[in-house]
Amino acid sequence: IFASVEMAPRDPILGLTEAFNADTRATKVNLGVGVYYDDNGKIPLLAAVKAAEKARLETMPPRGYQPIEGLNAYNQAVQNLLFGAGSELLAAGRVITAEALGGTGALKIGADFLKRISPNAKVYISDPSWENHRALFESAGFVVENYPYYDAATRGVNFAGMKSFLEGLAAGSIIILHACCHNPTGADLSDAQWQEVVDVCKAKGLVPFLDMAYQGFADGIDADAVAVRAFSASGLQFFVSSSFSKSFSLYGERVGALSVVTASKEESARVLSQVKRVIRTNYSNPPTHGGAVVAAVLSTPELRQMWEDELAGMRDRIRAMRVALVDKLKAKGVAQDFSFVVKQRGMFSYTGLTSAQVDVLRNEFGIYAVGTGRICLAALNSKNIDAVVDAIAAVLKA
Ligand code: LMR
Repeated sequence: IFASVEMAPRDPILGLTEAFNADTRATKVNLGVGVYYDDNGKIPLLAAVKAAEKARLETMPPRGYQPIEGLNAYNQAVQNLLFGAGSELLAAGRVITAEALGGTGALKIGADFLKRISPNAKVYISDPSWENHRALFESAGFVVENYPYYDAATRGVNFAGMKSFLEGLAAGSIIILHACCHNPTGADLSDAQWQEVVDVCKAKGLVPFLDMAYQGFADGIDADAVAVRAFSASGLQFFVSSSFSKSFSLYGERVGALSVVTASKEESARVLSQVKRVIRTNYSNPPTHGGAVVAAVLSTPELRQMWEDELAGMRDRIRAMRVALVDKLKAKGVAQDFSFVVKQRGMFSYTGLTSAQVDVLRNEFGIYAVGTGRICLAALNSKNIDAVVDAIAAVLKA
């Protein structure tokens, strides 16, 4: 039965990690995957997480099934973070949230649910976008196309192009938007531009799906929720996928959520019932540990403060690495202006390195970047940055 099964290509991001792990060079650096490493090159276990885990371990809780939509305390904590604790939408019962297996799991549940209710809609993702967006929505059965987003000339957003494209779409089109820290470019919309996108979605009857995997990595928890808050104030119905992989450094625990904003409390009940069917037929119900830890941290004032401080520390270190990269490339005599790296937000930079240059970086220097030229600044540290700068300088001069 497997005789005609073809070899699938490696995943463009996680496949790089596989190749990186197999690389025996001691000097290798993985700037491919979006993972935060500390200055010692280690994935941190946050002190707030450690404290919550210790407390949980002491109680030795039994491991019964969770509700299909996950832990209530977790889902409420997610809602407060996304929509703000005083949100009128929350008070009106207009938001349903289901714990999901990371941000990817949330996108998948949302995509499957959308396919059931809008089978003929087209899905639009930014050009470029996170590679898995296309794959996820195509595998849910949708036709996926791009909307204009990145402007290589300005290293920013081609907002006029994006807006006029969205204005031309059919009602019911599904628009995937990066709520903050655009992956892969690091180029975000301004607050005023978000409002314009909200207005277009409203005027044209589009279905917004906000993907928020990096809340807290640009300016702060509430500041980074500006897109969610702008859509919330609009009266529209929309989707939000969110993740604690990065902000809690809980990648392997797969802790995310799908939230859906509906028109009324009564609609919420019907929507949740359908989302639960999608979950039940995919994996039944989510695992316990990650959600319980996040819920404990977010609802315990001392732990929450500890987490916010640790998140700010990660954000600040990434910023410092952006500045250091630009300064060091300049000091190294690289003629090209890399100052745009400091303006980009979140973990990533779209460096402008070509796929051929990325190949040389990997083959000759053991430095791994995504083929599109995306690098993860959160993998740079005070020990590896000089080697990375030397390699980039060499590749650019070649
Ligand atoms: C990334 O873009 O590197 C991360 O979101 C990890 C992933 O799942 O691709």
